[in-house]
Amino acid sequence: MLATYICVTLVTLILMCVYIISVLSDNLYSDRTTRLFAKANIISMTAANVWDSEDENVMYQRFVDIMERSLAGTSIRGVVTNTSYTVLYDSNNEADMVGRVFMRDVLKRAVDGEQAESMFESDSGKTVTVSVPVERNGVIVGGVYLAENVSSISDTIDTIKTSLIIFSALIILIVAMMSIGISYIIMQPMADFIEVAHAISKGDFSKRASVKGTSEMAQMGKALNYMCDELNALDEKRKNFVSDVSHELKTPMAGIKLLCDSLIEAEDPGMDTIREFLGDMSEEIDRLTRLINRLLTLSRLDAGAGLNVSNVDITMLVGAVIRSLKQFSAEKNISIDLDIKMGQEREVTADYDKLYEAVYNVLDNAIKYTPENGAVHVRTTRDNGMCIIEIEDNGPGIPDDEKTKIFDRFYRLDDSRARDTGGTGLGLAISKEAVQLHGGTVEVKDAPEGGSIFRISIPFAAAEPV
Ligand SMILES: Nc1ncnc2c1ncn2[C@@H]1O[C@H](COP(=O)(O)OP(=O)(O)OP(=O)(O)O)[C@@H](O)[C@H]1O
Ligand SMILES: [Mg+2]
Repeated sequence: MLATYICVTLVTLILMCVYIISVLSDNLYSDRTTRLFAKANIISMTAANVWDSEDENVMYQRFVDIMERSLAGTSIRGVVTNTSYTVLYDSNNEADMVGRVFMRDVLKRAVDGEQAESMFESDSGKTVTVSVPVERNGVIVGGVYLAENVSSISDTIDTIKTSLIIFSALIILIVAMMSIGISYIIMQPMADFIEVAHAISKGDFSKRASVKGTSEMAQMGKALNYMCDELNALDEKRKNFVSDVSHELKTPMAGIKLLCDSLIEAEDPGMDTIREFLGDMSEEIDRLTRLINRLLTLSRLDAGAGLNVSNVDITMLVGAVIRSLKQFSAEKNISIDLDIKMGQEREVTADYDKLYEAVYNVLDNAIKYTPENGAVHVRTTRDNGMCIIEIEDNGPGIPDDEKTKIFDRFYRLDDSRARDTGGTGLGLAISKEAVQLHGGTVEVKDAPEGGSIFRISIPFAAAEPV
């Protein structure tokens, strides 16, 4: 990250410096060239006025006057030649060029009628040269050549270059320091997250990321910690479930083993004893079978096999559940009545078998836990667009602090009593799971005259029919 920041900044700075230097040097050199052309043109016009090809000495004196006026206070070298490039005047006396041929490319182009410029580099630095023709009565009679050393421009550009390099170095330093700071702020929690993720992958859900402030990183840390909490709770549940299952399976197995041992050890047991023992064993096997069936139902619901939905008439479904438990309620002389208060719209889109199982388990409990001669009322209503099935009994009721726990797997209010009644403690867990799959809820509350009311709510369109 640090390297990326520095690279991006470096490339940007280099491009910026190259651009600044090139624009600046172009401007400075073209400004100097323009000024030289202006002077050369003035000299050319003035020289044309005094041009006298008859007497070169007179003309020389005139050029001296013009040049001294035009070039006073500058370091510009001025040369005037005729069209054969013979020097008529040279401001550089030391060169002693008067009367000699002075051949330069720019001068040649000027004599050909063009305004020309060029630049060359020597030991004394860069020199800009310009040349313009001298025209008299529309005829080119010579050329003016001006040359100026512009090393001061190079010096200025060099100074600016140095300043830019220092400025860029400072910026790189600041960017590097800021990048180190930012990457520390980002990477520190990141390292923490990676550590937690490694722990999770090894099955350790106890580690938590440190969360500081409200930044995006902190939000991410919170989400990770929440995930750890959930995984931990799930792991805990799984472990408890496995130990509960083993425990529940052990009890009937131990019963069967005891009955077998007793039979083996008994000396010459009579046919009646054998029959009695085998009957008890059969009961234990029934209990095992019921438990295994319940576990299979739960695991199918857990696997999220999906809903096999159809249009289900809810009153028909509830009626079928009541009919199937009629004999059980009759044995205890418990009356069951059905009150339908839901108008004409009685169909829900639901999985018939799963919903049947959910209602069955609740009604089975109502009969099972209500003492003999009790009464169970079943109502179907609608509330806020939800289909409601209420099952009210006048049994012992459920204490407030147990009202949510009874929906947990293997939870029984009075463990030994419930086990004697053949309860597995899975009935309500299955109901809850099945109803939740339909997007509904199951709750329990106290009935006004003692006992409990179980309320199943499911949306009318729990799912799209397939
Ligand atoms: N209507 C009720 N009145 C009083 N207690 C109830 C009622 N319904 C459920 N319970 C209590 O809630 C516990 C859990 O019920 P659940 O149906 O899950 O298990 P179970 O009835 O013991 O076993 P199973 O349903 O497998 O036969 C029961 O053991 C019982 O103690
Ligand atoms: Mg039950």
